[in-house]
Amino acid sequence: MRVGVFDSGAGGLSVVKALLEEGLFEEIIYYGDTARVPYGTKDNNTIVRYSLEAIEFFNNFNIDLLITACNTVSAYALPQMRKQSYYDIIGVIASGIEALENRGLTKNSNILIIATKSTITSQRYQKEIKELGYNNISAIATGLFVPIVEEGLFEGKILDEVMEYYFKDLKTPDAIILGCTHFPLISNAISNYFNNTPILIHSGEAIVQHLKSKFNIKNSFKETKLNIYASDNVDGLRKIANSWLS
Ligand code: DGL
Repeated sequence: MRVGVFDSGAGGLSVVKALLEEGLFEEIIYYGDTARVPYGTKDNNTIVRYSLEAIEFFNNFNIDLLITACNTVSAYALPQMRKQSYYDIIGVIASGIEALENRGLTKNSNILIIATKSTITSQRYQKEIKELGYNNISAIATGLFVPIVEEGLFEGKILDEVMEYYFKDLKTPDAIILGCTHFPLISNAISNYFNNTPILIHSGEAIVQHLKSKFNIKNSFKETKLNIYASDNVDGLRKIANSWLS
């Protein structure tokens, strides 16, 4: 099976990593819109327009399924993308929420969502989690983490200061939804900040569970062919992939 993975930039490689570890696909076509990242600061119309251009790209590859690793795209553009494609498209928000549900938390658990500004503004996570009966939800836009991760700063003083800036007034959550492709790369630092107590929900692991349970996809490939494409500086993205995926 040939799957497409779409992200605004390099962050979706965190989802690719989870797919590779499980050997779910024979081939992955990754497309990062590196010329226009970040999406998380853009408005609804722009996010949809860029996402439809990505569909035009993937329509050339005869894929069986498209995963939009980008939470911001998943929050705004899936219905429009589905209208213009001949394959199934799955986003990371529904699977992230499913993963949260599978953790057996009580409805009073303190759930923190961190994501880009656009994802938080869309209210997608907040509304759907609330509809499931959880009543103690907080959500913060933590967009500064995106360039920090792009810079490869997965630990250290700068990240510590930004975490302090965003998290200092928060009570330790029971679960944190890492609602952005980039955040799994700093999940250790985030977990340490809260003394390793919260459960972290990671889009990559969530999508793997979703594919196995809802699409009946099994771990069957020892090796997956990975082709990386980008709208700008594809060599740079391939270098990042070599270091993140090793
Ligand atoms: N890929 C985006 C997301 O998961 C983060 C980076 C961006 O803002 O484009 O929301």
